[in-house]
Amino acid sequence: MNEWNYQTLRRQDFERIKENTAVPTIYQSDNALVLQGDSVELLKQIPDNTVSLILTDPPYHTTKKKNITNDTAFESDSIFLDWIFSLVKEWKRILKPNGSIYVFCSSKMANRIDSLFMEQFNILSHIVWNKLNEPGFDGWKQKMRKESLRQWYAHSERIIFAEPAFEGNLFNVWYANVLRENRIKCGLSMKDLTEITGDYGAVNHGGAASNWEAGRNIPNREQYAKICKAFLDTKCIDSMPFYEDLIRPFEVNGESEFTDVWNFYSVRPYNGKHPAEKPIDMLEHCIRSSSYQDDIVLDCFAGSGSTAIASLMLGRRTISIEIEEDWTNVIKNRLEKFEQHEIEEGIANTKNVMRLTKTAVKSAIKLENAPTLF
Ligand SMILES: C[S@@+](CC[C@H](N)C(=O)[O-])C[C@H]1O[C@@H](n2cnc3c(N)ncnc32)[C@H](O)[C@@H]1O
Repeated sequence: MNEWNYQTLRRQDFERIKENTAVPTIYQSDNALVLQGDSVELLKQIPDNTVSLILTDPPYHTTKKKNITNDTAFESDSIFLDWIFSLVKEWKRILKPNGSIYVFCSSKMANRIDSLFMEQFNILSHIVWNKLNEPGFDGWKQKMRKESLRQWYAHSERIIFAEPAFEGNLFNVWYANVLRENRIKCGLSMKDLTEITGDYGAVNHGGAASNWEAGRNIPNREQYAKICKAFLDTKCIDSMPFYEDLIRPFEVNGESEFTDVWNFYSVRPYNGKHPAEKPIDMLEHCIRSSSYQDDIVLDCFAGSGSTAIASLMLGRRTISIEIEEDWTNVIKNRLEKFEQHEIEEGIANTKNVMRLTKTAVKSAIKLENAPTLF
């Protein structure tokens, strides 16, 4: 018997994306897709509402890194910001309504990028990444003459974390709208729903329903099952979305970073390191917190492909877009090694992945052409 569940829908979405992307793909498998080209163009080929998490790291325009394509290409801030705005609109279109987005940026550009998000997204957090150096790898920070600084040494980066907003409804959220619309279609009042589900609010006596519909609280799975039953029993509607298609995932606990200041080590220099490579444990943290198993995670400035590897390690699907052929080959090699390794041994552990992926990086880039290291 075929089981119909949200995983089936994710598989269908991923197949649709693969069919829709007209460029020759660099790599594709059941769970991974790598495209080479300009994101601004390629994003247009991704169907609406198919991606659950966008986790991406565009060129910063402020770090003056000539070895990162488009980091120094924009003649002015406003041209750079127009370019980012064209991406923001595409990100909103392809993201599922209960999806999430994390965008890395420099502290200098964060506020200006933030303002471009305002109409399309609700900004949830400005995360500060405190870029710790591993002991013994203090790099420039320790060596430089502190007396020559004319401003505070920039030792952090920003990550904008947001969810899609809806027209005329800037601070409201998807699930609240869906619950309200369906309750009204079913001819139930909030009081009726409260009574049927038995979820009387402890404080305001208006019942949990009013808090759900205001977007203040989310129903848990058990409560959502009761809501769906109540709606479907009226026979006024014949389906409700899966929980995973309604509620934006956000799973944190006290064991890992849960504030908006994150401490993760920067990636230590190694031969063939991407000049802006992000730590895989930090990417994993974003993916684990903000997506469900089997969800589709997109990185449209994929660089070394660490987002793709982190996604697969956590049982998600992944799309990588990268403009530079050398880097798409690195991503392809990393993914091939990872997927073969998984198939052969059925395990994914970070140490093995890092060992395998560093070998892949070395073999994909001729070392004399390798980008300058930090
Ligand atoms: C800041 S780096 C990302 C590094 C990545 N987070 C990692 O961990 O390796 C930005 C990447 O975007 C790529 N890029 C620049 N412009 C692009 C565009 N228009 N479309 C796709 N990729 C682009 C660059 O080649 C570079 O690899």
